[in-house]
Amino acid sequence: MRALLWPDASEQEHLAELEEGQSSFGQSQFPVVTLVSEDQRGSLSGFLEVGLRSHADGCDTRRPVGFVEGWFVREEHRGKGVGRELMCAAEEWARAHGCREMASDALIDNPGSERAHTALGFEIVDRCIHFRKAL
Ligand SMILES: CC(C)(COP(=O)(O)OP(=O)(O)OC[C@H]1O[C@@H](n2cnc3c(N)ncnc32)[C@H](O)[C@@H]1OP(=O)(O)O)[C@@H](O)C(=O)NCCC(=O)NCCS
Repeated sequence: MRALLWPDASEQEHLAELEEGQSSFGQSQFPVVTLVSEDQRGSLSGFLEVGLRSHADGCDTRRPVGFVEGWFVREEHRGKGVGRELMCAAEEWARAHGCREMASDALIDNPGSERAHTALGFEIVDRCIHFRKAL
């Protein structure tokens, strides 16, 4: 599912990122966890990666914020409340880590994600263009 959401990364990169996230508790980095949903047969139907960030656009800069790093539900399971349940679990996780705000982002050409976020109570705080330059 990670590969479907982020097709540019290799399988090795996905595995390395998952291991990194799971071992980050208690270290200097902020923790990241992967929440998953299962269908009635016990197969994975979706996932949400949530972590803490020291700050996020539009949020109170004085405290860490829960950040949605990745959110995906398999196509055949969409529109049935799975994404909402994953988001609720992520918000609980963030609250339990002392957060009072949740943040996320989406590509500008992903209107479905924008609508899903706004349906779940997120407000748009900014629209960005990201630049890079080799040094
Ligand atoms: C975004 C995504 C995770 C939502 O999962 P889902 O299981 O379909 O979401 P839910 O069924 O729980 O819907 C939650 C709310 O969002 C709304 N919603 C979800 N997808 C929507 C869409 N494409 N268009 C409009 N509204 C949408 C639902 O109507 C629902 O609101 P409601 O309860 O008021 O009706 C799923 O569509 C997905 O995996 N998309 C492809 C990957 C992606 O874009 N991820 C986000 C990257 S930032």
